Amino acid sequence: QRLQHDPAARQPLAYMRLRRAIRNVIENGEVQVGHALPSERDLARALTLSRVTVRKAIGGLVEDGLLTQRHGAGTFVSERIVKPLSRMTSFTEDLRARGLNPRSEFFERGIGEVTPEEAMAMNLSPGTQVVRLHRLRYAGDEPLAIERSAVPLDLLPDPSLVVDSLYEALDKLGNRPLRALQRLRAVVLGPAQTRLLRLGAGSAGLNIERRSFLDDGRIVEFTCSWYRGDIYDFVAELQSD
Ligand code: GLP
Repeated sequence: QRLQHDPAARQPLAYMRLRRAIRNVIENGEVQVGHALPSERDLARALTLSRVTVRKAIGGLVEDGLLTQRHGAGTFVSERIVKPLSRMTSFTEDLRARGLNPRSEFFERGIGEVTPEEAMAMNLSPGTQVVRLHRLRYAGDEPLAIERSAVPLDLLPDPSLVVDSLYEALDKLGNRPLRALQRLRAVVLGPAQTRLLRLGAGSAGLNIERRSFLDDGRIVEFTCSWYRGDIYDFVAELQSD
């Protein structure tokens, strides 16, 4: 009983505890983006842990995209936002995990009928009502992405439930998507987009389309995003057949 309430007991492995601890330090902004972590050996000595433990904890955070290893130079808090493609996370979660402050400016947050493109993408009949969001997404004062989302009204009955994060609102309703299909394309951003993202004319971006689903296969969202090409890295682990 007592052990169940002890967080240390629920994370029995030293490397998992260390991984969590380093993550906390980054999330709290105690080590800043681009800065180096002490060497494996120094960390192991200071924390009286084995080097294997330290290496495993750091390896996990490199996989999460939070740390970057540069050969011969050491381990740094990632400067670019490195996003593992296989994880189903939200913009808000990705930024918070890096100690950044996610914010949205809404251009649209209302109810409307699906557009033909949305109806086709979501396999909904024309005339279906959706919540439509059009947001400029920031880390603090810096704009990072433009996102347009459509969510069927039966899964999100009121647009004002989305205070900032769409997934937080869906989570509260028990409708957080569990899996998604995503397409990434390189694009040259248009004039309106570069203006919003404060980039030079003709800058490159990543266009991401995500279709997310509930466990029972119902579609939750169709989101079309334009991410800045100069700071986002999407990484994936590959396996041979
Ligand atoms: C990412 C995805 C979107 C998703 C969004 C939710 O940006 N590409 O498809 O809608 O996360 O993020 P949030 O919960 O912060 O609104």
